[in-house]
Amino acid sequence: MKIIKAKDYNDMSRKAANIISAQVLMKPNCVLGLATGSTPIGTYAQLVEWYGKGDLDFSEVTTVNLDEYKGLTKDNDQSYYYFMNHHLFSKVNVNPARTFLPDGTEPDSAKACCDYNKIIADVGGIDLQLLGLGHNGHIGFNEPGDTFEAETHCVDLTESTIKANQRFFASIEEVPRQAYTMGIKTIMQAKKVLVVVSGADKAAIVKEAFFGAITPKVQASILQMHRDVIIVADEAALSELE
Ligand code: GLP
Repeated sequence: MKIIKAKDYNDMSRKAANIISAQVLMKPNCVLGLATGSTPIGTYAQLVEWYGKGDLDFSEVTTVNLDEYKGLTKDNDQSYYYFMNHHLFSKVNVNPARTFLPDGTEPDSAKACCDYNKIIADVGGIDLQLLGLGHNGHIGFNEPGDTFEAETHCVDLTESTIKANQRFFASIEEVPRQAYTMGIKTIMQAKKVLVVVSGADKAAIVKEAFFGAITPKVQASILQMHRDVIIVADEAALSELE
């Protein structure tokens, strides 16, 4: 596990974007595992800027996203499809047919998850997986539990996640209660994992997840077992570490 200390959110975003850029330069037809949430927004903005300057080419890249709310259509501005399109896909030359997310509009959970597992297998697995970190240690929408779920599954979101994500919706009632998420086995099979974390409110979970016990109660703790994890975190997020 490598920890790269950034000064602040902007510095974290630039450092993370540098790592993603290096991946795309070294393997133009790579598979990028992408994440939503507020943390990676600056990283995507930086990639868009470098693409605009002609420094990056996404034409051969494939993307698979971690998760999607169950029940939200692609044109719903809170869907993760909408988020990705808004922050990245529509602003770079990635082939839209090579961008994948779980299908939130598929009501049959078993089918939605099975279809997504097949997509990930068909693209040949993930070269670089970008992750944010939930306040309760969730990655994707793998919520604290008694087990590590292997592949794509439908989750009941915890109250704390529903509350945390409420800020994006008009009211708490509108936050979906379920989501489809990539599983821990799939994330762990990514060749490289890049975690971005920012802010003092994440300092306690950074310490617990990366320096505490490995347990499904803190899903991100499993990343301690991955052979190539880079955590790019700002000073505030690292403030509880010695
Ligand atoms: C969301 C997403 C995660 C994300 C996390 C943290 O619920 N499903 O993929 O990493 O919460 O979000 P934020 O970066 O806004 O703190």
